[in-house]
Amino acid sequence: MTSWETIFAAGAGRETLEIKRKVEDEGTWYRRIIRGLEEGSGQWSSPEKNILPGTLLEDTSWLAMHPIELDSELYPDLQKRLLEVDPERTRLWSSWAQAVFGEEVDTAMAAAFILHAGTVCVLTGAGISTESNLPDFRSSSGWWRKIDPKTVASVEALTNEYELFHSFYSARITALKQAEPNNGHDILAAWEAGELVQLTATQNVDGLHQRAGSQKTAELHGSLASFSCSVCHESAGKDAFLEGVGCRVCGGNLRPDVVLFGEPLPQEAWEKTFEAVRNADVLIVIGTSLEVAPANQIPRQTRGRKIYINKDRAGTWEDFDLILTGSAGSVLKQIDFWIQAVKQK
Ligand code: OAD
Repeated sequence: MTSWETIFAAGAGRETLEIKRKVEDEGTWYRRIIRGLEEGSGQWSSPEKNILPGTLLEDTSWLAMHPIELDSELYPDLQKRLLEVDPERTRLWSSWAQAVFGEEVDTAMAAAFILHAGTVCVLTGAGISTESNLPDFRSSSGWWRKIDPKTVASVEALTNEYELFHSFYSARITALKQAEPNNGHDILAAWEAGELVQLTATQNVDGLHQRAGSQKTAELHGSLASFSCSVCHESAGKDAFLEGVGCRVCGGNLRPDVVLFGEPLPQEAWEKTFEAVRNADVLIVIGTSLEVAPANQIPRQTRGRKIYINKDRAGTWEDFDLILTGSAGSVLKQIDFWIQAVKQK
C-alpha cells in the first residue's frame, strides 16, 4: 500500500490545499485542493518531478489560508516569500510567520516592516554604544548610578563646579579614544547605504554612528568632537579642553559642544528629526530608557510603526507595535539576516 507524506497543508473555509509525496517516490510531488472537506474529494495533480516543493506554491493564495501542516523543509522558501509581503496587507501574515519563523517571529516582522516601508527613521540612545565598551547612564553600570548628573552634566556644574564638570567630560573623551563602532552601528550604516534608513537621530555624543559610516544623522545632544568657550563661544580644540587651559580669546572655561541639563537641544538637529519622524513609515528606537525630555517625546510624533529594541523593557510605557528585548547588536544582526535573505535573492 502506498503511504503518503504531507509537506504542506493549509485551509480556509471549506477548502484545503495539500502537497504530498509518496514515501517510496522521493522527488515527486502531488498537489490537490480538497473542497468541502470530503475525504477523497479533489484531484491530485499529475506527478511533478525534480522541482523544489516550494515552487508548487506558485501564487500567494495560500497566504489567505490558515497553515495546518508544514514540513520544515519548506521553511526557508516560505520565510522569503513572507518577507516579500507587507504584513499589513495580509490578514494571516502573523499566523504564517509564527509557523515558519518560530522564536524569530518578532525580528522577522521587524524586517518585513522595514522592507515594506517607504521611509525608516532610527532613534538611538546610550544602549547602542555599550557594546563598544562605553557605559550608558541608567543601567546598573551606568554613569548616573555613580554620579548625580546635576553635579557634572548641567549648566550649574559648568558655572559653579568646573573641576567636576571638566573631569567628568575628560574621562568620557578618554574612554572614547579606545572605542570603535560595533556591529549595531555598522548595520545601521549599511541600511542607510542601502537606502533602507533615511535618518539616524541619536542622543549619543560619541560620534560612533558617523564613524561607522552613517551620514544622515542628527545629534540631538550635541557632540564630544567639538569644543568652544562657555563665555564667548569661540571654538576651541580638544587638546586645549583636556589640558584645562582657558579660551584663547577671553580666557573663559572651555566646554564640549554637548547639551547639558538646563540647555535646549540644537534647533537644526531637533527640527530635522521631528520632520523625518513625523513622515516616517517606521521608527526604530534602540538602546534608550526614554527618560529624558524632549527626546523621549519623539516616538509620539510618528504615525508610522514603532519598533523598540532594548536590553530591558525600560521605555515601554510608550506605545510600541513591536518590542524586541535583547542586545542591540544581536537583535539588529538577526533583523539584518532576514533583510539580506530577501535582498540577495
Ligand atoms: P540610558 O542609560 O537612560 O538608557 C540606555 C538603555 O539602553 C537602558 O534601558 C539599557 O537597558 C539599554 N541598553 C544597555 N545596553 C544595551 C545593549 N547592548 N543593547 C540594547 N539595549 C541596551 O541612556 P539614554 O536613554 O541614551 O543626556 O539617556 C538619555 C540621555 O540621558 C543621555 O543622552 C544623557 C543622559 O543624561 C545628557 O547628558 C543630556
